[in-house]
Amino acid sequence: MSTSELVLVRPTKAMEQEITEYKEEHFGAGDMQVHGSGGLAYFDSFDEWLKHIEAISEVNPETGVRTSTFFSGRVSDGKLIGCIKIHHSLTEQLRKGGHIAYGIRPSERGKGYGTKQLALCLDFARSIGLKQVIISCDKSNTASAATAKSCGGKLTDEFREGGVMKQHYRVDLK
Ligand SMILES: CC(C)(COP(=O)(O)OP(=O)(O)OC[C@H]1O[C@@H](n2cnc3c(N)ncnc32)[C@H](O)[C@@H]1OP(=O)(O)O)[C@@H](O)C(=O)NCCC(=O)NCCS
Repeated sequence: MSTSELVLVRPTKAMEQEITEYKEEHFGAGDMQVHGSGGLAYFDSFDEWLKHIEAISEVNPETGVRTSTFFSGRVSDGKLIGCIKIHHSLTEQLRKGGHIAYGIRPSERGKGYGTKQLALCLDFARSIGLKQVIISCDKSNTASAATAKSCGGKLTDEFREGGVMKQHYRVDLK
């Protein structure tokens, strides 16, 4: 897949309809969460969600950390393909969850987009000066772990949290 197939974009009010469709596709497919979206599934109001995303892109008052949230758009037709968020730094509180969380819309999974989206986010991580990132996933989530590994992630930790086995993958950024 060419590196120019997807592009990361920050959400805007002009994207409301597409983002709402993106969210509804998840619910239609039985997903209760919209991974990587900064809690899109939990906001009834698009405007409130957008306000939250824009606020935490400066600093999240609850964590003291900047968090950037992106959608990946397909260059050929502009369709929103996935969503990914990255903490610009980690605190002890955030460490277990890692720097990056991601998802691909149900109808576009298994086509290589998750890997491409993560690679673009790693480019962004480099651009803000990060030297390494941690990606956390459930051990049972083989697609998520494979995505982290396909972008150079090395398994560095396994631990139990709330009865669920989690894994940490570290990506060193050159
Ligand atoms: C995890 C997710 C983002 C991967 O995106 P994707 O576009 O489907 O992944 P890709 O097509 O780029 O494939 C990446 C790797 O995962 C593997 N993979 C993809 N779907 C898989 C599946 N259902 N089961 C097992 N492995 C899978 C691919 O074979 C590939 O591995 P490889 O590089 O060794 O061949 C996507 O499945 C998703 O949105 N899942 C739901 C949300 C989620 O779990 N997010 C992560 C929370 S930590």
